[in-house]
Parts: sequence; C-alpha cells; structure tokens
Amino acid sequence: MCGIVGIVGHSPVAPLIVDALKRLEYRGYDSAGVATIEHGELGRRRAEGKLVNLEHRLGDQPLGGLIGIGHTRWATHGVPNETNAHPHFSRDVAIVHNGIIENFAELRDELSADGYEFASETDTEVVAHLIARELAKGATPVKAAHKALARLEGAFALAIMFRGDEDLLIGARNGPPLAVGHGDGEMFLGSDAIALAPFTDSITYLEDGDWVVIRRKEMSIFDMAGNPVERRRQKSVGTSYLVDKGNHRHFMQKEIFEQPEVISHTLSNYLDFTKGTARQIDLPFDFASLDRLTISACGTAYLAGLISKYWFERLARLPVDIDIASEFRYREVPMSPRMAAMFISQSGETADTLASLRYCRGEGVPIASIVNVPESTIGRESDAVLPTLAGPEIGVASTKAFTCQLSALASLAVRAAHARGHVSAEQGKKLVRELSEAPRFASQVLRLDEQIEKVARDLSQVHHVLYLGRDTNFPLAMEGALKLKEISYIHAEGYAAGELKHGPIALIDENMPVIVIAPYDRIFEKTVSNMQEVAARGGRIILITDQRGAERATVKTMDTIVLPDMPEIITPIVYALPIQMLAYHTAVHMGTDVDQPRNLAKSVTVE
Ligand code: G6P
Repeated sequence: MCGIVGIVGHSPVAPLIVDALKRLEYRGYDSAGVATIEHGELGRRRAEGKLVNLEHRLGDQPLGGLIGIGHTRWATHGVPNETNAHPHFSRDVAIVHNGIIENFAELRDELSADGYEFASETDTEVVAHLIARELAKGATPVKAAHKALARLEGAFALAIMFRGDEDLLIGARNGPPLAVGHGDGEMFLGSDAIALAPFTDSITYLEDGDWVVIRRKEMSIFDMAGNPVERRRQKSVGTSYLVDKGNHRHFMQKEIFEQPEVISHTLSNYLDFTKGTARQIDLPFDFASLDRLTISACGTAYLAGLISKYWFERLARLPVDIDIASEFRYREVPMSPRMAAMFISQSGETADTLASLRYCRGEGVPIASIVNVPESTIGRESDAVLPTLAGPEIGVASTKAFTCQLSALASLAVRAAHARGHVSAEQGKKLVRELSEAPRFASQVLRLDEQIEKVARDLSQVHHVLYLGRDTNFPLAMEGALKLKEISYIHAEGYAAGELKHGPIALIDENMPVIVIAPYDRIFEKTVSNMQEVAARGGRIILITDQRGAERATVKTMDTIVLPDMPEIITPIVYALPIQMLAYHTAVHMGTDVDQPRNLAKSVTVE
C-alpha cells in the first residue's frame, strides 16, 4: 500500500513532506524516506520502521531543497530495511512508488543485461532504471518517464523527480490513488487529499492510466497514449488537522469511546427519528424491484456485510450474496438486470473491493457504496455514496467504522423492508425507534471497561481463543477473533456455535478460553447447549450476554460480561464494543503496538 508525497514549493520541503507522510502512515509503516534536490544534487534520508525514525534521522542530518518526494512503506517486494526503503535512485532519477510492478522480474533481467545494478530487492527500482535508461538514450525527462510508464504492468502510483530540474515532478496512476494539490506558486502530489490538506484544499484526482507533469505554476495531465486529458479541479473536504488521541492512551481506545456519538451521527443520516422512517437518500436502484443484492468487501467491512445479510433477508426478504472482495473479483459471478451491488469500505481505496466494483460496473448493475471517505476512488466510481459518519479512523484495527457501517446497513435494511412491503408503517417505526437506542446502549457498555480489562488480563496469558455465536453473533464472533489476532497476535477463530461439534470441539481443553456472544434471543437455548458441550470438556467460557441471558445460562463460566437487555436489531452494533474492548485491553497487557500492529496497514491498495 504505501503512501507517497511530492512537493515543488518555495520553502524547504523536507519538513512539509514529513508532515504529509504523518497523515499517510495509515498506509504502512515498515520504513519511510524523503529525497530532495539541493544545490543541483539529489539528497536522501531513509529509515527502517516508523516515521519517527526518519524524523530523528532528519533531525541529525537535515535536508534542504525546494523540491522533494517522500514515502511511507508497507513492504511487498523485499524486507522492510533501509536499503529497500524509498525513494529509489538511478543516476539522475529519484522515485517513490505505491503498488506492485507485476512484470518487474522480466524488466529487471532486461536492465541487468544492460548493465544496470540493483541496490534493493524492490520492484520499484526497475522503474527508476527504466527512466534513467531512456534519459541516457537522450530523451527529455518527460519523454523518458512516458516511455518507461508504457513498459509497466501492474498497479502503481508514482512520484518522480530529476536531478538538474528543480521545477519538475511527474506523477502517474494506475490503480492506487493519486491526487494533485494546487497551491499558490507551488504544487503537490499525494496519495490522498488528507495528506495535502495543510497545504491546499484545491485537488485534482488522477484517473487510472493518467500521468501528470507538474511545475510550480502549471500542470498537464496526459493519458497513456500521451494525449492531454482534462480532469476536474475540486475543493476537498479533507480535514487538515492531525487527529490527536485526546486523553486516551491509543487511537483505538479513543475510537472505541467515540462510538456512541458517531453511531448516532450515522443513524441520523439514514433515519428520520421524528417521523420514524428511513430517509429517502438517493439510490441507483429501487429495493422494491430487486431480485438480489450482492455485497462485497474486505476484512472488518466484509463482516459488517455478513451481518447485514441477516437483516436484509429477514426484514426485507431480499436475498443477499456476500463475498470477500478478493474472491468475488475473479469469480465471474453472473449478474442479472434485477440485481444491485453494494460495496463497503472504510478507506474507499481497498484494491480488491475496487476491482469488484469495476467488475459489477462492467456487468451493468447499479452500484452503491458505504464508505467513510466519500471522495475516495470507490466513492467516486459508485452511482451512489452512502457515507458512514465515523470521522477519521486512525487505529489500524477498525472499530468505529465497523459500527457505523452496521448502523448504515441496518437503516438500509429497514428502508428495504418497507419498500418491499414486509413491514407495516407501525413495525417500521418500532425498528427506527429501536435503532435510535443504539448510542445510549453503547454508552452504557463503555462503563464495563474496568471489568473487561480484568477479563483481558487472563486472556493475555493464553495462545488460542475460540469465539462462538449464532445468527448475527456468528459474524460478530469472527470479528472478535479478527480484532484479537490483529492487535494481540493471539491466535483466534470465530465459529458458528452450531458448527462447534463438526471440528473445533476437538481443540477444547482446560487451556482453551471460549468466548460466547449470546444475547438472550429465540435461539439462546441452542447456544447454551453448545456451551454445555464446551464445559463438559473442561473449556473455560467467557460469556457475553444480557441480564436475561445471565439469569438463564445454566453453565459455569469463567467470566460473564453482562450487557443491558436491548432490542435484537441493535445487538450486533452494541455487542461489537465489548469485543473491541476485550481485544484492546488484551493487547495493552501484552505490550503490543495497538494502533500500528505488525505487518498490517489500514488501507490495502494492493492485491
Ligand atoms: C485492512 C484494515 C482493516 C479493514 C480492511 C478493509 O485490512 O486493517 O481494518 O477492515 O483493510 O479496509 P476498508 O478500508 O476497505 O474498509
């Protein structure tokens, strides 16, 4: 994934580039680097690990220069060390890259045969060498870049600069996003508008296949054939502030505690609480005439989609296909005119989700996307953007974006149910009223923080955890397991409670905690039977339930986390909180890097 920045300005750019990279660190934090041109010479500072290491390096060895490029890396080709950190140089060329050059092995062989030596293990270095080779043949920098770009296969966003020209940056996009920022006698390139927000809110987004020639006072965009193309300049709504942790220890904790507020904002966007109805937000399809809805997404967003399948099918009798986007994109799913597609993404940039969207576009089905960044590529390429109003989510493990996705999806399910004639006005009003209570219950659950922290102390001693749930609590069990493994590195699996006997029960012994998510509902007794099966084999049960459930669960548990009794439709939204809190406190006890766990990135713009 990686984040890239380029600035051609009128004050020293290195500190500005680092500032912009801070806003892009969600895209990866394996290494970081900056290159500038000062007194006609290319200079570079790079450091393994987080951006703060690069800041220290620059503190010891500052870089001057009014033009520069910067990078924060999520490693694909080559281990995350300083040699593989960007920018990469080849003679007069400096380059930063986000994406994967798929034909790099072939290009590397060709360039090696021509005498080009490779300093790193990255795929990126081939691009620098390709451009340098064109320059050596006498091409101008712009022509050399264009010729090199034509040789590349795969996904890339690039920023390139040239020793000898302190008024030239070249950017290119094929896949990962890239935005041009317009300043006053200065210009910017960045992976997103938020990175550029302190400098400008005047943004032009490049489309796939575009490349741009940037000078301080002008810029021109071309397609791959070299024809000039026009792209709209727009005002970005990206926020310029670097969100801080307030009085919380981690962003994740802050984001967990923001949930009552952001769930409320999101629900109010989709529901009219006064009238007790779903708002008629523009959609490119009519729920009443749909035969099927297909949803795809990745990671936590996928699990939000999986929960919504229960809502759409049960409340609106609308069949839903739900897929992991990396599977959907290659599955060649047949589509029919009475289908619609929905995509869910916090960032709006996830490569697999975007590719799935484009598949559906090719099949001619209407597309609506639930995104937290409406200006993102997925937002821009959808027929309708359905925003989650979670605000910027910084912690790599998604928390508030998830519950806001659920809030939007539950509201849409209510709208679909009404449109398809499966709920009466009265029933619809009741559902809207019940949904409106989610923020209040979420606040109450946050008060259980101390108790959950104690449970987490025990959990931090184990190596494996099983999560069980039925119905909407089954995807929630998977989300619980995902949260725990992401940030604490404890191996965890989420299973449908009824499936336990078909395999996972073999894992149960006195060392295996089993976290059961079971509000008191019509299938509660079934889950109790599954808990009996665990208890009979010495398994240690942590039960997350409500008051009625706690009274009726006839099983000995190691811990019981008791939530208030609440309407069934909001349980997945509210029960997400104790699950997040449990993972958070476990990770804190284990001393892991909660906000930036190893090997992960917040926005995944590669396959
Ligand atoms: C990464 C993040 C997850 C997120 C997933 C999908 O894996 O670490 O938290 O759920 O990508 O991201 P998206 O931005 O599409 O929701």
